Amino acid sequence: MIYYFSATGNSKWVAEELAKGTGDLAVSITEVMKSKQLPPPIKSGETLGLVFPVFAFAPPRFVIDFVRKLHVADDAFVYTVCTMGGAAGGTFRYLEKFIKLNSCYAIKMPSNYIVMSGREPADKIKEKLAKAELMLPAICESVKAKKAELKARNSFVSFLLTEAVATLFNKFASDKAFRSTDRCTNCGLCAKLCPLDNITLENGRPRWHGNCMHCMACIQNCPAAAIDYGNRTRDRERYVFDFLK
Ligand SMILES: Cc1cc2nc3c(=O)[nH]c(=O)nc-3n(C[C@H](O)[C@H](O)[C@H](O)COP(=O)(O)O)c2cc1C
Repeated sequence: MIYYFSATGNSKWVAEELAKGTGDLAVSITEVMKSKQLPPPIKSGETLGLVFPVFAFAPPRFVIDFVRKLHVADDAFVYTVCTMGGAAGGTFRYLEKFIKLNSCYAIKMPSNYIVMSGREPADKIKEKLAKAELMLPAICESVKAKKAELKARNSFVSFLLTEAVATLFNKFASDKAFRSTDRCTNCGLCAKLCPLDNITLENGRPRWHGNCMHCMACIQNCPAAAIDYGNRTRDRERYVFDFLK
């Protein structure tokens, strides 16, 4: 089983490519969490894949919450693939506090953190996606062979930095600056896509309720670009994964 979390499609694409290449099934963590059902246990000898974006040098807290619900046999093979704009920090060591990992891989993908910076230039996006596509067959072969591969695990020092950055990020990432603009068409997609069900519609317009992990699903996927984070995203081009286009 491959479980993935994805706000703008990068990790979803990686998970689906891994599923194709390994003959496994890719399942959305958001859907499992929204169903309120416990995921089935990963039994002895089975393979578990976890795919997710890096948030502030660590796995998103949503992914950690999901991992804590998993029951995984001691001799199951567990691999993880993170997608990231540029630096995974101590992501894997952080995850290892919650689950044993047999192998881990980091894939550079276009950055989606529009609060920090806008969409990367088209040629940079193209280059990252082409490199990512080249990495996937080898990862699939290693996973199928259940090969231990822990090179992407960073040093203990970067893990300590991660602890500090991720703790501060999870404490202070706030939805207070999100707002909808007059371009809003009341379609409700933002509320539907929010993994944490943190958005409701009031008179057709989104309202955020304080439980936000900053995944950027609402702002990036809005078909009318009608969501902003304060003023800083006003002139920034949105990003969602569009490799096939
Ligand atoms: C809140 C947040 C924090 C992020 N932090 C990092 C980071 O520390 N390092 C990094 O390389 N990319 C970072 N990114 C970029 C994403 O990890 C990257 O774009 C990822 O591929 C997005 O995956 P998705 O499309 O599946 O949601 C961050 C993105 C967000 C939204």
